[in-house]
Amino acid sequence: MTNPFGRFDDSKREYVITRPDTPLPWLNYLGQDEFFGLCTNTAGGYTFWKDAKLRRLTRYRYNNVPYDLGGRYIYVNDGGSVWNPGWKPIKAKLDAYECRHGLGYTRIIGQKDGLEVEMLLFVPPGENLELWKVTVRNKSKVAKQPKIFSFQEFCLFDAANDMNNLQRTYSIGEVEIDGSAIYHKTEYRERRDHYTLFACTRPVDGFDTSRDAFVGIHEGLHDPKVPFAGKCTNSKAFGWNPIGAHQINLNLAPGQEETFSYILAYVEQGKEPKYDSLYVMNKKVGKAIVDKYSKPGAIDTAFAKLGTVWGDLLSNFQANSPDPHANRMLNVWNQYQCMATFNMSRSASMYETGIGRGMGYRDSNQDLLGFMHMIPSRARERILDIAATQLSDGTCYHQYQPLTKKGNAEIGGDFYDDHLWLILSTCQYIKETGDVSILKAPCSYADKPDAKTDLLHHLEISIAYTMKKRGPHGLPLIGHADWNDCLNLNCFSTEPNESFQCAGDVKDSKAESVMIAGLFLYASREMAALYDFMGKGDDAARMRAGYDDMLKVIETHAWDGEWYRRAYDAAGTPVGSKENPEGKIFIESQGWCVLGGAGQNNGRAKQAMESVHKHLFTKNGAVLQQPPYSTYHVELGEVTSYPPGVKENAGIFCHNNTWINLGWCLLGDGDRALEYYLSICPSAKEDQIETYRSEPYVYAQMIAGKDAVCFGEAKNSWLTGTAAWTFVSVAEGILGIKADFKGLSINPCIPKAWKGFSATRKFRGVEYQIEVKNPSGICKGVKKVTVDGKAVAGNVVPFEAGKKVVKVEITLEA
Ligand code: BGC
Ligand code: NOJ
Repeated sequence: MTNPFGRFDDSKREYVITRPDTPLPWLNYLGQDEFFGLCTNTAGGYTFWKDAKLRRLTRYRYNNVPYDLGGRYIYVNDGGSVWNPGWKPIKAKLDAYECRHGLGYTRIIGQKDGLEVEMLLFVPPGENLELWKVTVRNKSKVAKQPKIFSFQEFCLFDAANDMNNLQRTYSIGEVEIDGSAIYHKTEYRERRDHYTLFACTRPVDGFDTSRDAFVGIHEGLHDPKVPFAGKCTNSKAFGWNPIGAHQINLNLAPGQEETFSYILAYVEQGKEPKYDSLYVMNKKVGKAIVDKYSKPGAIDTAFAKLGTVWGDLLSNFQANSPDPHANRMLNVWNQYQCMATFNMSRSASMYETGIGRGMGYRDSNQDLLGFMHMIPSRARERILDIAATQLSDGTCYHQYQPLTKKGNAEIGGDFYDDHLWLILSTCQYIKETGDVSILKAPCSYADKPDAKTDLLHHLEISIAYTMKKRGPHGLPLIGHADWNDCLNLNCFSTEPNESFQCAGDVKDSKAESVMIAGLFLYASREMAALYDFMGKGDDAARMRAGYDDMLKVIETHAWDGEWYRRAYDAAGTPVGSKENPEGKIFIESQGWCVLGGAGQNNGRAKQAMESVHKHLFTKNGAVLQQPPYSTYHVELGEVTSYPPGVKENAGIFCHNNTWINLGWCLLGDGDRALEYYLSICPSAKEDQIETYRSEPYVYAQMIAGKDAVCFGEAKNSWLTGTAAWTFVSVAEGILGIKADFKGLSINPCIPKAWKGFSATRKFRGVEYQIEVKNPSGICKGVKKVTVDGKAVAGNVVPFEAGKKVVKVEITLEA
């Protein structure tokens, strides 16, 4: 069965949605720099600048009924028949509908009674604005006089306040109207020096800025007054709910079409005087924007530039493997999703409201792993921003607000894995760029903003913290939780009015995490390699001593017989052990102990992975643990609060499946690695889309596990660590192409049936054209490497500056 809702158009790098009534709203993101829009396949969503909480420009009501209501709406009144090209909100039956989600743009085309309306929505690279290019085509045999109404609701900038503080919100909304331009300037007279502009590039036949006038008080977006009446009221908002709406009357002969555009911009007044006269804004900056995009060809030039930007970004890594799913995901959609997670962290999606979570400490560090190869300079800045939210004792603020870059404890703190992820992102950055100068970049601590310290010191205190903060078995303390936010071993919450994420106290806590121990192995080994690269042998040896120490603790206290235990709770009882009636085996400690190098010489790594296969793996991915908890355990926390089979309680948490893929690659089993990859790959779910429900082009955080009634149903798409880690597990694991300190390391681990693959990887300005041959059908084992025809030893292609293109041929053989 194919997907009845859409298909990939691989040649155009688009996903084409052919029915608007998708099983869930299918989302795209507009914008890649600082100005962003969420845009669904029915044009739903909203727009913000930098920060979905503090600079929300247009309004959106999460968890609405139906899902996804509110957005960039065009209402068409064609001789009294009123409809939207994106179907919603009116939901009039369309004669044709298509939505193409592309890289940074969405194109929606609706047709009814011989009239076609196309909307192309995108954010031009480097600009703080969004464009809606609208084309209206009369495809009928009669002249038509359609009236076109634009509509979106302004958000009063602070999204939380906008929703909650209605006694104020309803009295402060202000706008100015200037020809086709609507200026939303709430709070501009006092502390704000910015406004939102919503303009049309052609003269309009009317406007509205009051929602009550345009929609009505008792009407909804599905039956708004003005589009049905066919006439705007030229309302001027005074408080209540300001909106932007324009009316355009067209007269189209058969076969005739007209194109015009709307501009939605965020403008900072900068040094310009705020006012021309009392109450009259100085609109110079806004006017310049409207002029720029009203010029013929300006919008098409901006759109072409967007295509070039994405073409260039993706050209940094392209592969051609025998697997079509891996190809399209890796070459296009996975990298695209990595841009979204880099920009949004866990802040704004259909499942993150933009006011709940900001930039996560551990999340953003991991997101960088899939982004580094695209724009290393932005990665550098991000690493330093994240590090600046670390505290001087080595712990971290768990998240920060993107606008202010200030950390906060609103969703808890003392997650004792957080600091270690900074080591992974920093080392990856240095491997990608060779730029060790980042280590000396000044970077203070969140609690000591004046401290003169650098990034290297942050890495050192991260290592030191985990070395020092150990529990009774010598394993790292878990604190509030580790990667598994729900393993709250010091929380003991019996109070329904508190958040699991914030409850409890870790002072004097004893609970320990095996996952952190495994992550520490990985991080300290990275540090040792970094110090080697820097020629600091003593420091490298110090790191290796720490590694050996932790390895010994793991092998002594964390092995359960057939797998690695997950943790010890506050009372010292093992978690994730055969001794436990439920939650006997967890996935994270198998992944991290194996990736950290535990169990290499004693067969345990292999055994741990086989246990994952036996107890956790399903056709929809590996579940997080087994058996699921059927009752609440106060000593384990939130993990036991979810119904069996979802989220951390034995859901398929796609993020950690990627660590297992990498584990299989480490062990040399490319067949398992690909099998595991495909089990969570959205492109491979098209034939079960009615069950899977989420977008087929981006990874989801979670797929319901085998213990859930909805086994196979995906949730929380887009903003998940799965994006970056899947890129790593396929590009670096299966294809084996990995930036390393001294060059490009190539060590594939592929299915036996693959005859080989090819790839291009840009690395420090050089394009590596890689050809891998697998004549004898093995998974792993680089036998021969030639670089520009010359044989080289080992599998690291040494970096040589100055070259443009380097041809690498690899032959695998047992
Ligand atoms: C979820 C976790 C998430 C955390 C964030 C929990 O309720 O289960 O997946 O990381 O909230 O605050
Ligand atoms: C999602 C959170 O964003 C991430 O930080 C966490 O590691 C996972 N949930 C697992 O709990």
